[in-house]
Amino acid sequence: MYRTNTCGELNLAHCGHEVTLAGWVQRVRDLGAMTFIDLRDRYGITQLVTDEHTPEHVKEAVNHLGREFVIQAKGIVRERASKNKNISTGDIEIEISSIRVLSKSEVPPFTIQNDTDGGDDLRMKYRYLDLRRPMVQQNLFLRANMAHVTRTYLSEQGFIETETPVLIKSTPEGARDFVVPSRMNPGEFYALPQSPQIFKQLLMVAGFDKYFQIVKCFRDEDLRADRQPEFTQIDCEMSFVEQEDVLNTFEGLTRHLLREIKGVEVDVFPRMPWSVAMEKYGSDKPDIRFDMFLHEMTDRLKGKGFQVFESAPYIGGICVSGVAEYTRKQLDELTEWVKRPQIGSKGLVYIKLNNDGSIRSSVDKFYNEEDLKGIAGLMGAKQGDLILILSGEREHTQNALGLLRVEMANRLGLRPKDVFKPLWVVDFPLLEWNEETQRYFAMHHPFTSPKPEDIALLDSDPGKVRANAYDLVINGVEIGGGSVRIFDSQLQATMFRILGFTPAQAEAQFGFLMNAFRYGAPPHAGIAFGFDRLVSMFAGLDSIRDVIAFPKNNSGRDVMNDSPSPISDDQLEELNLIINLPSEK
Ligand code: AMO
Repeated sequence: MYRTNTCGELNLAHCGHEVTLAGWVQRVRDLGAMTFIDLRDRYGITQLVTDEHTPEHVKEAVNHLGREFVIQAKGIVRERASKNKNISTGDIEIEISSIRVLSKSEVPPFTIQNDTDGGDDLRMKYRYLDLRRPMVQQNLFLRANMAHVTRTYLSEQGFIETETPVLIKSTPEGARDFVVPSRMNPGEFYALPQSPQIFKQLLMVAGFDKYFQIVKCFRDEDLRADRQPEFTQIDCEMSFVEQEDVLNTFEGLTRHLLREIKGVEVDVFPRMPWSVAMEKYGSDKPDIRFDMFLHEMTDRLKGKGFQVFESAPYIGGICVSGVAEYTRKQLDELTEWVKRPQIGSKGLVYIKLNNDGSIRSSVDKFYNEEDLKGIAGLMGAKQGDLILILSGEREHTQNALGLLRVEMANRLGLRPKDVFKPLWVVDFPLLEWNEETQRYFAMHHPFTSPKPEDIALLDSDPGKVRANAYDLVINGVEIGGGSVRIFDSQLQATMFRILGFTPAQAEAQFGFLMNAFRYGAPPHAGIAFGFDRLVSMFAGLDSIRDVIAFPKNNSGRDVMNDSPSPISDDQLEELNLIINLPSEK
């Protein structure tokens, strides 16, 4: 037996017991007469001690210990003279009588403790050492716990966990596919699933009624803090349901997770049409922990000779409470901030409602005090507030204002991580026009059903058609998305036509789905939560990388095993990826 106890469980009640522990040496402190060793495992840290009663050979062995050695130590539990209130085992220590080195360690490239001296790159290269740090482990234990609670909840609700294939036919869902060459079918490729979308719909045709899977998905897209090339979804589908049923079921799951894992009770999730989210928050994923709504002022601000506004299709602003005293320097810095390519505004107009009652703006030349007071009144601004105004193309400017709103809230500390404000964003547009390719794309995916009352617009004004699609948003993060599906092959064919597929292309890509629909497809709908995003939100982290055991960096590389990497010519040839030309004579 390697150990009788873990390094996290011993306390005063164990005093006098002989125990054997095993773990990693975190630290050795040699105080002359006494030596202390902090022994660490997944469960905690226990202090081992040698003193004048310790056998010489044990003291000798302790002298040769180094950081991260794996050891086994036997000894008697005793009360500590000076207690450590910060750890669960802080009342006791082990007076060791024997010690065995199970495995030596080279000096690690960084300290294995929460406040490590290792930078990001180094920690990624030695991820297995980074994963020894308690706070990193906690994130992954949280992840495991959330997966467990989710599985239990959905299983109890009658969902059947079903695995779907990883080598599939390409399913366009907005991102690029990762492809896998087929050795046995020269010149042909599988794709890794961007999601199990089509398979879960086929499971509904097959009569599974309720499906779920905690599943890896793969998307070859540009990476950000909330995006990895391989990530995990809680993927679900239900039959004989309407949008309401799906929203209620998954509001139930979210509420259950918040209660079980965070001990938090939340109100009924508000439902907000997409158009309202855009108008009031400048985002399809509004953070409703704070107000600071967008106000449109397009008509109000035109006609005063300010050319920038005269030519703008949209003018809007936000009112930021209590920062009228912002200095010129701070306002210039904010102006630079909105001009960054990610925000893309040409400039920033401000109105200050100074604490002395005066009102000043960056456009005093064009607007007199009365004009400015009118705008302040429209926005409900009061003394001490700062109004920030952007103008330009409607959706672009709303987005920029939405980002500015979040930035100001960050600066003012209005986004506490321990407050959870979920909502459903509903009634998304079905289609999105792409200027570059001059065609419509499905905003969610091509299987999303239009709202029945909008179907008539499909041919006359496709851009106006709203979808039976919904997103779960928490604290400004898109946690999940789903839709009611088309289950009629006729309507599905119309969708493919509007999306620019010829009947032959639609047949080649999705023939099997449309065929399946010919054999009695039930009405069905579903949703997928981004599991990594949900876990990182529960952990109060900004990046999903921290809740993934072995994540990729921003260039999609695993720096630990240095992948992706070239493969040998032999492999390439076997996969029919290079044609070996006869060598020149
Ligand atoms: P969607 O594409 O909206 O829907 O994806 C669902 C959720 O998955 C998460 N997500 C990601 N997380 C990390 N890295 C990524 N690269 C990434 N991409 C997406 C998001 C998102 O809300 N098949 C549909 C679902 C359905 O209709 O049932 C789908 O995949 O949190």
